[in-house]
Amino acid sequence: MDEVFNLIKQEEKRQEETLTLIPSENYASYAVRDAVGSILTNKYSEGYPGKRYYQGNKIIDEIENLAIDRAKKLFSVPHANVQPYSGSPANSEVMIALLTPGDTIMGMSLASGGHLTHGHPDITFSGKFFRSVQFGLNKKDEIDFVKLRQLALKEKPKVLIIGTTAYPLILDWEKFSEIADEVDAYLVTDISHVAGLIMGGAYPSPVKYAHIITTTTHKTLRGPRGAMIMVTDKGLNKDPDLVKKIDRAVFPGMQGGPHENTIAGIAVCLNEAIKTEFKIYAKQVVHNAYVLATELKNKGLTLVGGGTESHLILVDLRPQNLSGNIVAEALEISGIVVNKNSIPNDTAPAFYPSGIRLGTPAVTTRGMKEKEMKQIADWIFEVINYVKEFRLPKNTKSRSNFIKTFKQKIEKDKFLLAISKDVKTLCKRFPIPN
Ligand SMILES: Cc1ncc(COP(=O)(O)O)c(C=O)c1O
Repeated sequence: MDEVFNLIKQEEKRQEETLTLIPSENYASYAVRDAVGSILTNKYSEGYPGKRYYQGNKIIDEIENLAIDRAKKLFSVPHANVQPYSGSPANSEVMIALLTPGDTIMGMSLASGGHLTHGHPDITFSGKFFRSVQFGLNKKDEIDFVKLRQLALKEKPKVLIIGTTAYPLILDWEKFSEIADEVDAYLVTDISHVAGLIMGGAYPSPVKYAHIITTTTHKTLRGPRGAMIMVTDKGLNKDPDLVKKIDRAVFPGMQGGPHENTIAGIAVCLNEAIKTEFKIYAKQVVHNAYVLATELKNKGLTLVGGGTESHLILVDLRPQNLSGNIVAEALEISGIVVNKNSIPNDTAPAFYPSGIRLGTPAVTTRGMKEKEMKQIADWIFEVINYVKEFRLPKNTKSRSNFIKTFKQKIEKDKFLLAISKDVKTLCKRFPIPN
């Protein structure tokens, strides 16, 4: 047997025996994985249903149409393109559809919780090929809509792209749409993180306000790694050619043959998301995050935005004078998997940021509830307390070696390994979908 399968088995064991608290991760159902791993991977189907460049696509057309119809119905939109390979290509495709190089775009900065593809300067497609204007958060970790409006009036972006990857509070879609309308910009809402919550009625939908919606399908939506671009009625009113522009930007603009195995997985996950159980799930995700955040706060930790209104929590480790790297590494040895993350107005570099990001979508899929959130909060706090003496060196050159030595040191640490044993016991009671 190929050694890859041995490694897959090892990864399966890791996922089973540890707590995934990375807010962008989840467990796709067996049915979703069955579709993704199916013989559909063998087929080329460049083009769109009914308009392919290859023969043999009768059944593929039916599958892609099913995914499209389900997306349209679920999100109440007149058009959905289910071919984008993932979230970053989807956002690039929207920009190619709406803009010419050099045009102005406006988005929330990465450091404030926005995504790289929303105009991060210099190193990304969106920041290199367009004139990117970025905005951040005020000292209270809020979006200052007065300032945002002034900036939009001054810079006149053609696209306002809004959606977050590390921001715990609800985004006010209506306020963004008022500003976009005032400057005649397209409002693109990227709901990658919260699509499943929106489907479950646990987070406000931007459908009434946006012209275009992009989303990944593998986060709270619990589907395969993929993405969708949707055009709203408001979008069609602004620009009747929007459907054509988006579809052409996806293929042949940026992509070749669609991954129909993934598209089948998207169709399956959308059918799961329409069920009552999914609504219950989405509400529990938000409730679990609230309980986890409240417990962490009660223990004295500082949370960005003062808590959460979604699935996501950002812990600000500056009061502890700790680096996100130290805490994330120690939590991993304890069987709790999170990611280091910048916090708003962080002065530390992105690779050694001052926070950690947590989320509840995956543990909620396992069936965990309030009681387990309290236990997880206890463990997180114990680990943070345990590593509080470890300071990242001021000298930036010695940081990488410091982390390497720190990792070696904690690998066999009895305190952390004892927590990982308890984590394993908890995980056994809440198996991952298989
Ligand atoms: C808001 C947002 N948009 C886009 C993306 C990019 O998705 P992908 O990693 O599938 O390219 C992410 C991924 O984390 C995201 O959080």
